Formats: sequence, structure tokens, C-alpha cells
Amino acid sequence: MRDEMTNGMKKIAKVTTSIMATSLFASGLMVSSLMTSVAMAQENATPEIAAEKIAEKSADNGVAMDDQSQLPQAPKIKAGAEYHQPPSESEIPDNAFGEMIRKGQAIFVDTKREVPEYVGNGMTCANCHMDQGKMPNAAPLWAAYVMYPAYRSKNNKVNTYAERIQGCFQFSMNGTAPAADSEAMTALITYSYWLAKNAPTGVSLPGRGYPEVPKPADGYSIERGEIVYKENCALCHGADGLGQKVGDNYVFPPLWGQDSYNWGAGMHRINTAADFIKANMPLGKGNTLTDQEAWDVAAFMNSHERPQDPRLIEGSVEKTREKYHANDGVNLYGVEVNGVILGQGTN
Ligand code: HEC
Ligand code: HEC
Repeated sequence: MRDEMTNGMKKIAKVTTSIMATSLFASGLMVSSLMTSVAMAQENATPEIAAEKIAEKSADNGVAMDDQSQLPQAPKIKAGAEYHQPPSESEIPDNAFGEMIRKGQAIFVDTKREVPEYVGNGMTCANCHMDQGKMPNAAPLWAAYVMYPAYRSKNNKVNTYAERIQGCFQFSMNGTAPAADSEAMTALITYSYWLAKNAPTGVSLPGRGYPEVPKPADGYSIERGEIVYKENCALCHGADGLGQKVGDNYVFPPLWGQDSYNWGAGMHRINTAADFIKANMPLGKGNTLTDQEAWDVAAFMNSHERPQDPRLIEGSVEKTREKYHANDGVNLYGVEVNGVILGQGTN
């Protein structure tokens, strides 16, 4: 019994830390009400209260999904063919099912406000999965939904759609993953299912993920990337890359710094960022940068500090690089740039 209590208290302490971390940016009221409920939980020694909605974490690295590995390339769209068309807003049924679709949509576009307990930065899902997760070549949800469950040799496991979403919460949102059976997860899955209506399952649809931009023959240059950034990106994302807010909300999301995606996110790979940028940025002017410019500016962006990789091993950037980054595309985690080792984190 004593042992059980001690374990319970330890679990609470862990959960408390993560809740405090994820609500750092929430309003004072939110923080104080969370603190009250945590204090109550502590008093009654019922760890389930705070823990039940948060995903089981694996013991070795403290995260539910182990990585955000690259997606296989989808086929190019055939000449004259159309991308999958998700149903229109007006087709959302006026019943409990429709309500769940709308809830998922709301979480997807306004993640921080809808589910602050799971978000640790200033991003929304739709910042990278554009047009509310509908836009082809911006990792649309309709193309994702039909490709799960998926076997991955990397972890020798069949990964579910919920696990993939958990990965984006932990890395892209620098937060805590909702449990597979939580309401937030049900809402996001229902919204994805709805957008995929009439799409074939198990078929990699044109428009999935971001189209690959091959690495230029001469590699990339962070210095040239800085010039591309000043000319094409700073206007919206800010000269300092920290984005722009109106009130508490970002109208232009941060590209680095503590409110951005963390060092474990897929976007931290220069190749993945180049793919996204080439197809989708500058906003409204996708496919205007050359491949070289996309790689250069992606390298410049990802040579800045951001929140630490939550899989950090024994406080060592070197060990973490070896295990998680050495074979994960092109990235600068643990690499020396201008005399400084990147990957120190912002917190
Ligand atoms: C006209 C304003 C504008 C310009 C110019 C612009 N962006 Fe963006 N960018 C946005 C907006 C808005 C979003 C979020 C999209 C959404 O939520 O629908 C975004 C999203 C992003 C994201 C994903 C979210 C994040 O914060 O990491 C990246 C990366 C990005 N932009 C990089 C760039 C780069 C690199 C350039 C220059 C080549 C650029 N952008 C130019 C407005 C702009
Ligand atoms: C900082 C950018 C970013 C944010 C924010 C983000 N994601 Fe992602 N997401 C990615 C990247 C990058 C991938 C992998 C794409 C690749 O490697 O080509 C991905 C992959 C996915 C996939 C799998 C796509 C597929 O085709 O298999 C799903 C589903 C997903 N994200 C959902 C979400 C949800 C839900 C949220 C919000 C809770 C979110 N993402 C927030 C960048 C982001």
C-alpha cells in the first residue's frame, strides 16, 4: 500500500510537470484552475484524474510515438486528373456525428484554444496541414487517413492513425499526446474520416504529404538562405522568425524559438521543410522559389534554436543525435554551426 502511494505520487509529480509546461502560455485563469485540480488530485492520491486523458508513455523515451519519420512519396497527379475532393461544409450532417466532425475541425484549426492541455507552443495543426487539412501537397488529412494502419520496419510495428497524430502533438505541437480513446482524438479522427469520404483505402493518393524537392547538387547554404528569408519570408514571419501575434494568437506562425515546433518534429529536417516550403510558401505563391532557394531557406530556418527534442537521452545532445537524428534525413541537430552546437533547446 505504501509503495502504491509513492508510485502514485511520483506519477502525479510527472503529470503535474507536463501540465504546468503545456499551460505555460495559457491564461492565468486556466493555469490556476489546472493547479487547483492538480492539488486536489494530489490530496486524494488518485493519479488517474490527470493521467487518464494523456497517452500512456513508453518507459524508455517518455513519448507515446517514437518519431515523425518521413512519409513515402505519393504518386504525381496525372495530367487532366483532379485531386480528391473532400465534401463541402454544408454537407456536414446536422446530428451528433456532424457535431464530432465540427469539433475535430475546430481542434485542427484552433488547437491551442480548443485543447490547451495538449499544446506546448503557438502552433495549430493547420499551420502545416493547410486549408484546414484539405490542401493537396500540404499533407492533407484525407490522403493520410486512408493509409493507416501502416507497418513500419523502423519500429517493427503496425502504427495506427491515432499514433501518427500523437506524434504531431508531441513534436510539432511540442505538447502531450491525447490518449487514443480521448474525445480530442475521436474528434480529429472523425474529421479526417469525413474529409476522406469516397477516397479508396490503402491507396497512396496524389497530393499526400509534401512533394519531394531533390537535394541540389551543390548542397545548401545557410548564408544564401538568410538572403532568401529576408526577401521572401520576413514580411510575415518577422525578421526574427518568431512570427506575429494579434492579442494572444499568432496570425503568422513562428518558424523557430520556443513557440515553434521542437527538435523532434518532421519539419526540423531540412529536406522535409524544403518540400513544404517549395510547394506552399511564400503564402499564396507556392512553387515560385527554385529548388536551391527552398533548400537554402529551409536550412537557414532550421539552423535556429527551438524547443528540445522530448526524447533527449540523459541530457546529452550527442547521444540523442546518435540515436534519433543521425539517420533522420538532413538535419542540424547536434551539428556545429558557426562555432555553436545546435540542439540545446530554448527552455
Ligand atoms: C504572406 C505571408 C507569408 C509569407 C510571405 C510567408 N509565409 Fe510562411 N506561413 C504564413 C502563414 C499564414 C502560415 C500558416 C498557414 C496556415 O495556418 O494556413 C505559414 C506557415 C509556414 C510554415 C509552417 C508553420 C511554421 O510556423 O513552421 C513554414 C515552415 C513557413 N510558413 C515558412 C515560410 C518561409 C520559409 C517563407 C519564405 C520563403 C514563408 N513562409 C513566407 C504566411 C507567410
Ligand atoms: C510544424 C508543422 C506541423 C504541425 C503544426 C502539425 N503537423 Fe502533422 N505532420 C507534419 C509533418 C512534417 C508530417 C510528416 C510529413 C512528411 O514527412 O512528409 C506530418 C504528418 C501528419 C500526419 C500523417 C500524414 C500522412 O499522410 O500520413 C497526420 C495525420 C498529422 N500530421 C496530423 C496532425 C495533427 C492532428 C496536428 C495537430 C495536432 C498536426 N499534424 C500538426 C507537420 C506538422
